[in-house]
Amino acid sequence: MEQEIFEIINMREAVKAELAGKYGPIADALRHVRHKIAVLSGKGGVGKTSATVNMAAVLKQQGKEVGIFDADVHGPSVPKMMGLSRRTDLQGAWQMKAVETEQGVKVMSVSLFWPGESTPVMWKGHYKARVIRQLLASVRWGALDYLLVDLPPGTGDEPITVMKSLPGLNGVVVVTTPQEVAVAVCKKAVESARELGVPILGLIENMSALVCPHCQKEVPVLGEGGGENLARTYQIPFLGRVPLDIHAGKAADEGVPVVLCYPDSPAAQAWRDCTKKMLAIAGEGGGSP
Ligand SMILES: Nc1ncnc2c1ncn2[C@@H]1O[C@H](COP(=O)(O)OP(=O)(O)O)[C@@H](O)[C@H]1O
Ligand SMILES: [Mg+2]
Repeated sequence: MEQEIFEIINMREAVKAELAGKYGPIADALRHVRHKIAVLSGKGGVGKTSATVNMAAVLKQQGKEVGIFDADVHGPSVPKMMGLSRRTDLQGAWQMKAVETEQGVKVMSVSLFWPGESTPVMWKGHYKARVIRQLLASVRWGALDYLLVDLPPGTGDEPITVMKSLPGLNGVVVVTTPQEVAVAVCKKAVESARELGVPILGLIENMSALVCPHCQKEVPVLGEGGGENLARTYQIPFLGRVPLDIHAGKAADEGVPVVLCYPDSPAAQAWRDCTKKMLAIAGEGGGSP
């Protein structure tokens, strides 16, 4: 096992190949992926992974072929939020199989081959970037309509590597909460995408006002309007608000996207609306293969 992991993270060949042709191996591995979208936010815990798994589930429900690349190497939570306990079959450094959820969404994440659930990944920045590039070049996705990339918080190595190394990246979807502290950090993420010339497809405000299940009144637990204001300031399409919803938390713990296990919940409805708007922007014709 250790030997296999070592093989995967041994980047010599990847670096050599990349030097031989810019983005060669990554572009090659993703040649049958039509749309590539990354989910970005400066802040942790705002709902990036929730956005990723729910948008993926909605796209799959619409009959699209969907994959998720979990680029959060320190806190990979896509497999957990999608109920994946199986591990990937390691077939050597250049052949990695994505693991499919029950719904048929393909997932690749460090946690699918990392030994031990609580063993931390302690890679330094430069190394992380290399591992991400190696994984991007090694996973055999097959034909996909959409590949969603779940990014970790911040504007460090992983988001920058993905934004720079994904050939034909359609753009990023930015997630924030309405809270001022989140919005302030999120601005940096928006600026980083702009700096790198990556289109911003839209912004989602997650954890917006909680709808009281008893009186149906909206309770703005984390403030109001922060996401929409940020979208307006930067002239980013506003994809919508996803309310704080007890079902969203439950769904994550159950390992099923809320749009699948509580389809009538306020959060599920909101994720569907956001995905629809995102599709109208990034969908057919809107992206580069
Ligand atoms: N709209 C929501 N209502 C309630 N809980 C939510 C909502 N969105 C996300 N959560 C919960 O908040 C936590 C952080 O969400 P997550 O998607 O992991 O954020 P990130 O990927 O940005 O760190 C998770 O436990 C998740 O289940
Ligand atoms: Mg996350």
